Amino acid sequence: MTLDDGFAVGTSGHLLYEGIDVAELAEQVPTPFYLYSGRRIRANVEAIRGAFSARHAASEIFFASKACSNLWFLRQVYDAGANVEVNSGGELAKALCAGFAPDQIVFNGVAKTEAEIAAAIEAGIRSLIIDSLFEIERAASVAAALARRVAVALRVDVDVPTHTHPGLATTHGGKAGIDLDDAVPAFARAAATGWLDVRGLHVHIGSQITSVEPYVSALERSLELMQRLEGESGLRLEELNLGGGLAVPYRQEPACAADDYFCCTLTPDDYAAAICAVLERRRSDLKLLMEPGRAIAGTTAILVTRVEGEKTKAVRDESGRRTAEERWLVIDAGANTLLEHTNYDWYFRTVVANRADRAAATPFRLAGPLCDGGDVFAGDDGSAFRRFPAETTAGDVIAFRDCGAYTLEMMHPYNARPCAAAYAVVDGQVVQIRRADSFDDLVAHDIAEGAPLAERGTLPK
Ligand code: LLP
Repeated sequence: MTLDDGFAVGTSGHLLYEGIDVAELAEQVPTPFYLYSGRRIRANVEAIRGAFSARHAASEIFFASKACSNLWFLRQVYDAGANVEVNSGGELAKALCAGFAPDQIVFNGVAKTEAEIAAAIEAGIRSLIIDSLFEIERAASVAAALARRVAVALRVDVDVPTHTHPGLATTHGGKAGIDLDDAVPAFARAAATGWLDVRGLHVHIGSQITSVEPYVSALERSLELMQRLEGESGLRLEELNLGGGLAVPYRQEPACAADDYFCCTLTPDDYAAAICAVLERRRSDLKLLMEPGRAIAGTTAILVTRVEGEKTKAVRDESGRRTAEERWLVIDAGANTLLEHTNYDWYFRTVVANRADRAAATPFRLAGPLCDGGDVFAGDDGSAFRRFPAETTAGDVIAFRDCGAYTLEMMHPYNARPCAAAYAVVDGQVVQIRRADSFDDLVAHDIAEGAPLAERGTLPK
């Protein structure tokens, strides 16, 4: 039985992901692990690039590598023909290592160090996105010291409200970007330094933006600002970077509730149609840059976990009387493997991979293994419960869907648990793309005897 794209139920009743029996793979390699789909990465890049370039020929896609900077993943994105956005010196080094040419790289960040700016200039990247007034001075002084002009865009907070998770909103009260009221003098100052070649305006309005209206508002405000810039500073900008934010349908409903930012019915074509219509009408000469991260990576992986055990716990009223019972399943992946679940109470759909043909109707609480009371997964439909087949029990394999973005990237070793391995399905074969941490990895940066700084030769910066 075919479910949606990439998912099916085999004759064994097991979940098949890209044709691979997930429960069987979990017998061959230790859980938890991520399983990516090479096919899906290409399909996502092509869908987004195609949607924009069909409607506005001068469009370019820069994959936001913070969503997944695994080297294998970056190479797939490169092979699919996208450029890349980086947010640190580390991401810059990874992008270069994965094979991106310097002129395919744009560099964002709210606090780039002098060393990072220097590395970007020396590499010869496409453009540095300046986030603040202080960064104008910093970038100009680094460029002057290197005696190399650098192409820049200025990121402005165009102050449009968005209906997303507060942790993902970047405008209308967020920390990023130059205040709209300071934008005209900021552009003038950047140009006046003589070291910054001011090419564009950058406007990223947040992540998981499930409607087109905020993009249209941001675009309209950007075009107004550009008009003012031309009038007041005589600057003519050639590029507008609208950032990322295209949403992933973490929850699928025929119609989404207005405040449910996990639910999205929009396709890349919908975003592109709304954005490009305004652009074509008002500034068809402008180059459009987009920086999708989540929409490229999100649907490209599942996280495969195993149920370690099951327990029943009472629900008691204030007098201590037992009023109900809850069945708990404890799995081997928690916030160390899937940080977004505690960081943002993020919702990822789940399937019991070895019982994928059974009706999932029995409520369970679902918890990770960490010594942290918050390591409990959000339930279905905004409740505290996941619905699984009634027989679900220890040893079963639970797959979380749409786990490709901000997941592998945000793993951490709390409780000295190894960060998980990752695999990918490529042309029907499973390849490993990340090793799990070993015990040696867990202690690799500890210095048990405490080394004196003088002996280390360098002082920390
Ligand atoms: N461009 C800029 C300047 C950004 O700040 C971001 C995301 C993107 C592009 C990509 O946005 P996307 O297309 O992925 O929505 N750690 C969080 C996500 C933070 C996103 C920050 N910026 C999480 O775990 O969900």
